[in-house]
Amino acid sequence: MTTLDIVANAQRMVAPGKGILAADESTGTIQKRLDSIDVPSTEESRRDYRQLLFTTAGAEAQISGVILYDETLRQSGSDGVPFSKLLWDKGILPGIKVDAGAKDLAGSRDEKVTEGLDGLRERLAEYVELGAAFTKWRAVIEIGASMPSRACLEANAHALARYAALSQEAGLVPIVEPEVLMDGGHDIERCAEVTEAALQLTFRELFKQNVVLEGMVLKPNMVVPGKSCEKQNSVREVAQMTVKILRRHVPSAVPGIAFLSGGQSEVEATAHLNEMNCLGAMPWELSFSYGRALQASALQAWRGKAENVPAAQAAFAHRAKMNGLARHGEYDSSMEPDAA
Ligand code: 13P
Repeated sequence: MTTLDIVANAQRMVAPGKGILAADESTGTIQKRLDSIDVPSTEESRRDYRQLLFTTAGAEAQISGVILYDETLRQSGSDGVPFSKLLWDKGILPGIKVDAGAKDLAGSRDEKVTEGLDGLRERLAEYVELGAAFTKWRAVIEIGASMPSRACLEANAHALARYAALSQEAGLVPIVEPEVLMDGGHDIERCAEVTEAALQLTFRELFKQNVVLEGMVLKPNMVVPGKSCEKQNSVREVAQMTVKILRRHVPSAVPGIAFLSGGQSEVEATAHLNEMNCLGAMPWELSFSYGRALQASALQAWRGKAENVPAAQAAFAHRAKMNGLARHGEYDSSMEPDAA
């Protein structure tokens, strides 16, 4: 593939009205999700769950891409059709999580650095063969009294940029995800300060390592107060603060920003995205790449039973539709089924 392909595919991933489904839960994370509905995590149950999401009729109207986990990219549906082919045939780009997870950062007590660069060039070549069009790498940054350290921010930014350059070399669009976690009692200003530092260092490294900004997608956290902070800001305040920070640090050459949901409820994540898209013209597309905020209701509706597949697909289709509307600032909470 050429640079032209990564530019075209990056634009396609953040096409107006559309966003990305993050279904790349690692084996450990999907086990937690399935435990929550009392379904044993087996290769088959994981396959059945992903299949119900990918075969939801009409979801391609709002879903431009799906991030898969290694196991899922190698799986086929119950009809024998490989998931990557199923997605391509629906006009949805398959992507692949390529990091090996956040590991303890040496020299620091509680911080993490994401690993997975060794052998990445070879793994990417295989993922191209398996039909992937894009990749994802997530850095995890926690806020604490004396965290994050400069060392943690720099190590993670450096790894993100090396991963992004390798992905582009392979013809794959990198989703660059520096996630500042919502855990903690910090206020929105502190989240803003840390998000700024993370974005600034990430773009500095991307520049140094010759990453083509036109051929990537940024996946940041929204700027929100910590989960246990007493002061929870309004939807408008979160939207304004998030856009302000992004405007400062994300070059307009980047085609789109696809937020993670990070533990926000489904409705919160949609409302925040909608509000940002009501704030006027932006230099980039403001989109979604939600995991939990696209799947929570569907998972609850499914509960591992074949007879619940239609209800689970309806729940997923509804969330996709609501987020599709939020892409244009056309969502309203009265559109939710349990709205009064
Ligand atoms: P959440 O939207 O559940 O945070 O997941 C998105 C994701 O891909 C995290 O890496």
